[in-house]
This record gives sequence, structure tokens and C-alpha cells, in this order.
Amino acid sequence: MKRIGVLTSGGDAPGMNAAIRAVVRTGLSKGWEVMGIQHGYTGLCDNNVVAMGARDVGGIIQQGGTVLGSSRCPEFETVEGQRKALRTLEEHSIEALVIIGGNGSQSGAYALSQMGFPVVGIASTIDNDLCGSEITIGVDTALDVALRAIDQLKVTASSHHRAFVVEVMGRDCGYLALMTGITGGAECIILPEFETDAADVVNAIRTAYELGKAHALIVVAEGAKYNAHGLRTYFEEHHEELGFDLRITTLGYVQRGGSPGAFDRLLATRLGAAATEYIAQGKFGVLAGLNKGQITPTPLAEVVAAKKPLDLSLLQLSEALNL
Ligand code: ADP
Ligand code: F6P
Repeated sequence: MKRIGVLTSGGDAPGMNAAIRAVVRTGLSKGWEVMGIQHGYTGLCDNNVVAMGARDVGGIIQQGGTVLGSSRCPEFETVEGQRKALRTLEEHSIEALVIIGGNGSQSGAYALSQMGFPVVGIASTIDNDLCGSEITIGVDTALDVALRAIDQLKVTASSHHRAFVVEVMGRDCGYLALMTGITGGAECIILPEFETDAADVVNAIRTAYELGKAHALIVVAEGAKYNAHGLRTYFEEHHEELGFDLRITTLGYVQRGGSPGAFDRLLATRLGAAATEYIAQGKFGVLAGLNKGQITPTPLAEVVAAKKPLDLSLLQLSEALNL
């Protein structure tokens, strides 16, 4: 092995830079050259490749986002796009590629691997919807950002005896919403994985007031049927009969842009180091992830075949705490 490549793809996640740094420096220490592919699969299709030295990844461990840039690249989902990507890799004599990203990005990694190119994936997305890693890079920081916002919203909610709906990201996965709801002390959590009626939300708010609470907090996942938009429509239609004051906040992209906390920096560093070690061992077509406290390789075929289950018993725990 003489030269490897690294790219970040899909939604950026806090800690991606720490992973890039670890891949670059552990790769260099193995005597390899490391090439950075800019803007994810778009850069791979369009031949945007730069050499990465140890100093190029200095001072980035604490930065959110990704210094390599990222993208959603529909072209790469086509066989023609994937062939263009392979041509770029060949042109730069890149012998193995590390792909840092979420669900879709690892499907792309699997596609390259099926075409015979040696790849290793690193589990990184704030959605935590990726099989093969109990937790992915960026989740912990995104959760912290959401919690800081919720703590502040609760202050103003209590002052006005208001009900607040807070929508968090996660695409079609409810993990972030579930954890935000539990750790933020929500009266009601709405997830894509568990059907909730808008009337249940109304009941949860009424119950909170009957119990003497100064406010009610509803956390909704963006992928749920009754997300911020769904609830806004419902509450506007039923405004007269509800009898309480409600405000809706969509946290959105602020959750993605935070500076990675200690957990994400450490996870990203360990996964980056594991990825180059797997390459050194000739262990390809796998995702580096965290399972039961250990860094483990999971075949990409398994990663892309299954949907990660959500522990819905935690939803019952959150309900039990609503006294
Ligand atoms: P994430 O990796 O954060 O889940 P996306 O789902 O948007 O983000 O995927 C990122 C990119 O991965 C897509 O824009 C596309 O280029 C590539 N990708 C997604 N799914 C596939 C697939 N089935 N085959 C090949 N490439 C894919
Ligand atoms: O996958 C990360 C994520 O932030 C999701 O939570 C969200 O649905 C999506 O990306 C937003 O995508 P985009 O950045 O393309 O608008």
C-alpha cells in the first residue's frame, strides 16, 4: 500500500474533522501518502483531489463540519457516476478509500466495494440510523446542542405558562428526538417509528397543566407524521377548542454545526485509526463502528441491508417520568 484516499459524504457531523485528522496522521505514520477527496462523492466524480500532510489537519479536531467539504451527489448513485469515481481513484493511484459518512454514504461505499475497489467506512451521522455502530460520530454533540436550546426554551416557556413544540433532526429515524426528549424532560415525544395522534399531544399538554407544571414540552422528530408542520396545521385548525398557548420551534441545522464534544472527538479518532489499521490488514468492505465499547468492523453488506432498530422501551421510560 502506497497511497490511500479519504472523503466525507452526506450530512456533515461534528467530529468528521477529528476522523479526517486520525485517518491522515495514522496513514502517514504507516508510511503511506494520504489524498483528500473534496466535497464527497461529487469530488470523486469531478476529480477534486488534494494531497494531505500532517500540518493540513492541524487545529481541526475542535472544529465542526468537515474541512474536506461534503455533498449529496445523485450522479454517484448511477453506475456511470461510480465508473467516473473509479477513474479518479485510478488516475491518482489511490489504492484504498476511507469513506466517512452515514447511511447513504455507506451504501455508496458498498457499491464501490462491489465493483472491486478496497474501501473502509467510518460511521458518521447525527441521525444515528446506521447499522454496524451503536452510536455514530456527531450524535452526542448534536444532542448536546438540542439540549442547550431546550433548556433555554423551557425558561421562557415557564415564564409564560406556554406549551412548546421542538422539532429535531434525524431524517426518518427517531433516535435524536427520543434522546432529546428523555434528557430534556419532555412531556411527550413524537417519533417516526411509533404512531402518535395529534390528540395524544393535546392530552399530554393538558395533563401537564393539570399536574401543576408551568409549561409543557413536546419533542418531535422531523420524520414523524406529526412533526412541526403537521402539528402546526393541526393546532391552527383546532385553535378555538384547545385553550392553551403554544409555540413551535424547529431547531434544524444548528444541531449539525456544533464544535464536537469529547465523546465525538474520541470516537472519531478511534474510528479513524481503526480504518487505516483495517486497510493495513487488508480488511476491506467493512464499516468501522463502536459496539459494546469496542471498535469493530462490520461488513458493509450487513450495514446496508438492515434498518437500525430504536429502543422503544425508552419511550415508556420517558412516559413513566412524566409525573
Ligand atoms: P448520509 O450518508 O448522511 O446518509 P445521503 O443519504 O444523502 O447521506 O447519502 C450521501 C450520498 O451517498 C448520496 O448523495 C449519494 O451520492 C451516495 N449514495 C446514497 N445512496 C446510495 C446508493 N444506494 N448507491 C450509491 N451511492 C449512494
Ligand atoms: O443526515 C443528516 C441530516 O441533518 C438529517 O437529520 C436531515 O434530515 C438531513 O441531513 C438534511 O439534509 P440536507 O443537509 O441535505 O438539507
